[in-house]
Amino acid sequence: MEISIVGSGYVGTTVAACFADLGHDVVNVDVDEEIVTAINDGDAPLHEEGLPELVADHAGPEGTGRLRATTDYTAVLDTDVTFLCLPTPQNDDSSIDLSVMEAGAAQLGQTLADKPDWHTVVVKSTVVPGTTEEAITPIVEAESGKRAGEEFGIGMNPEFLREGTAVDDFRNPDKVVLGADDERALGDMCAVFEPLIGQSEAPVVETDTRTAEMIKYANNAFLASKISLINDLGNICKEFGIDAYEVADAIGLDDRIGEQFLRSGVGWGGSCFPKDTRAIISAAEATGYDPTVLTAAVELNDHQPERLLSLLDDHVDVAGKRIAVLGLAFKPGTDDVRNSRAIPVIEGLRERGAEVVAYDPVATANMRERFPNLEYAESAAAALDGAHGAVVVTDWDEFAALDEAFDAMADPVVVDGRRIIERRDGVIYEGLTW
Ligand code: UDX
Repeated sequence: MEISIVGSGYVGTTVAACFADLGHDVVNVDVDEEIVTAINDGDAPLHEEGLPELVADHAGPEGTGRLRATTDYTAVLDTDVTFLCLPTPQNDDSSIDLSVMEAGAAQLGQTLADKPDWHTVVVKSTVVPGTTEEAITPIVEAESGKRAGEEFGIGMNPEFLREGTAVDDFRNPDKVVLGADDERALGDMCAVFEPLIGQSEAPVVETDTRTAEMIKYANNAFLASKISLINDLGNICKEFGIDAYEVADAIGLDDRIGEQFLRSGVGWGGSCFPKDTRAIISAAEATGYDPTVLTAAVELNDHQPERLLSLLDDHVDVAGKRIAVLGLAFKPGTDDVRNSRAIPVIEGLRERGAEVVAYDPVATANMRERFPNLEYAESAAAALDGAHGAVVVTDWDEFAALDEAFDAMADPVVVDGRRIIERRDGVIYEGLTW
């Protein structure tokens, strides 16, 4: 099929390259000339495992030619389906900011006014229930002068891609959710995903756009709450002197619970869980409903970094002392520091008057934008050298291999928020939930 993707961020670019790899002809539309040039040169514009190979295979000079990028919206006219992959950032009141989506929908609508035949528009961005139907569809209708369901189709197809494993997650989905408000749009979406469904045998959920929107939030809210619940239980375990990981391993054997997402510690961060949980709480509250469990899940997550620091307080008065923070990325395998638990940890240490020295194998540059005046070490060993305490915030494998580096600490106190450091003689070791 001929597919256009509006937005070349992390989702848009990954999905475009993966669709091209499935055999479709794909054009990526973005306002950023640098991104467009990079893709057309066969270079991935962002860091994501497996993406450089896909972009080179399909967009580069040696590529299949099935992927290209442009700043020109009229490129959508030569396609059958357009996916809107634009950002929906968070407003100060936790609701989502739809301005970029609305502007994209308007431009798409204006462009489609010149298309004589049917076109399907699919929202892929994460938007609260009702947004596609009540906000996006009317804009496309008004700007194109066409009627949804008659002259163009509207669909919603949420993504469940994790940073760092997005290409693999695309190829091996647990499910494909196709929300559509008319049969023809659903047919087009099925045709787009047909090669993927054929090769992955993923179950397909066919539904309406509102339900598809809610499935995305429910998925992320459930996973975030699962981690908050295991963190709550982990905090209880710690009080009783019980190892929460042994407990998690045992309860994970129950199929109804499942073994994944049971790693307790300093909590969840990233660009999705924090934003999505708050957005669905805010949307629910706007209806008059107060989602108590979800609200508690967010509160518990906000509190875990302080629990980590209070464990350090039990051993060291950090005021005026050098304290190492190991790990700045919100999870291993990425340089993304958005909503990383390292941020409240660093803030809490600074409020206590500590001299923070931070280390991360790849995320230093991004954290430097957030905390320009922090000391950043070149290695974990350099951060530990002379430190009166260390906290571990990201479970990078290289931290598991640290050994003699602890000998260089002024006070060998380590509080591990991710269960990655091995206990060893001579080190006072505190696990957050074990
Ligand atoms: C998430 C969802 O998994 C994905 O489906 C969605 O589309 C986007 O949001 P991502 O944010 O990339 O993906 O990261 P994920 O691997 O889910 O981890 C999120 C956070 O939870 C990280 O901070 C991680 O450290 C934390 N986490 C995860 C735990 O604390 N414990 C766990 O057991 C698992």
